[in-house]
Amino acid sequence: MPERFSASLQQKIEDRLRYYEDLGIRLFYTDRGPSGAGVASRQALVSAPPATSITEEIPLPKSLPKPAPMKAAPPPLVIAPPAGPSLFESFDKVKDDTLLKTREDLGECTRCKLHKGRNKIVFGDGNPKAQLVFVGEGPGADEDMQGLPFVGRAGKLLTQMIEAMGLERKDVYICNVVKCRPPDNRAPEPDEVAACSPFLMRQIDVIHPKVIVCLGATAAKTILNTTRGISQFRGEWLEWRGHKLMATYHPAYLLRNPPAKADVWKDLQKVMAELGLQLPKKSKS
Ligand code: URA
Repeated sequence: MPERFSASLQQKIEDRLRYYEDLGIRLFYTDRGPSGAGVASRQALVSAPPATSITEEIPLPKSLPKPAPMKAAPPPLVIAPPAGPSLFESFDKVKDDTLLKTREDLGECTRCKLHKGRNKIVFGDGNPKAQLVFVGEGPGADEDMQGLPFVGRAGKLLTQMIEAMGLERKDVYICNVVKCRPPDNRAPEPDEVAACSPFLMRQIDVIHPKVIVCLGATAAKTILNTTRGISQFRGEWLEWRGHKLMATYHPAYLLRNPPAKADVWKDLQKVMAELGLQLPKKSKS
């Protein structure tokens, strides 16, 4: 069989395809091939001989799946809150607020016990005018060291997910329910969530994204003030304070349970449809 790619290029293609395979995507639409456009399997893309001569100058094939047909989103579902008022129902917008003011008001926060063990406050990162905000649970060890959200292993997976949507991290805004690292990566406790949440509300109010994606149960339950398990409403469009909101699994959960990546990819495709995003087109030769 003729040699198709160098070992390093082959490796890059393998890595990219493995990532899509993890998402549950196994068929790829190609422009190349004996009959032009067609469907190819991972195996075919990696090992089939070229239909035409292919050189290293040709960019790495972005073996992207065809986007799911854009369906109109179902009407938002409103989750019945549990007894008691939502933490945020009475949260009024701060007049003329900005992210800078919010950060200044947070200061060197000592409002809850998490400050005792923190190295750096992890406020949030990304585009202050983002149409899409991701909300996680709270910083881990890497985030605490760097002062940036989602920079550890789970963060690398989140970055891949964002890139699979055809976006870059700088296009979105990423933050957490609590801004300081909980000890031993435990879930934040109610008093910690209560102390930190006004700052999360202000961030969301200032950015005013079209879509909020809650990563994991802590973010979803905090924002929605629900005790329902995330699997009951994951992937559903919800309405929250004028934003469309979707909860999906946390990237750390996906590291432990890779088959769930396919569910998350389905959810993210709904988000893409809502934002009018198409998967990046494969470059034509
Ligand atoms: N997990 C989170 O929820 N947030 C981070 O910033 C990192 C890991």
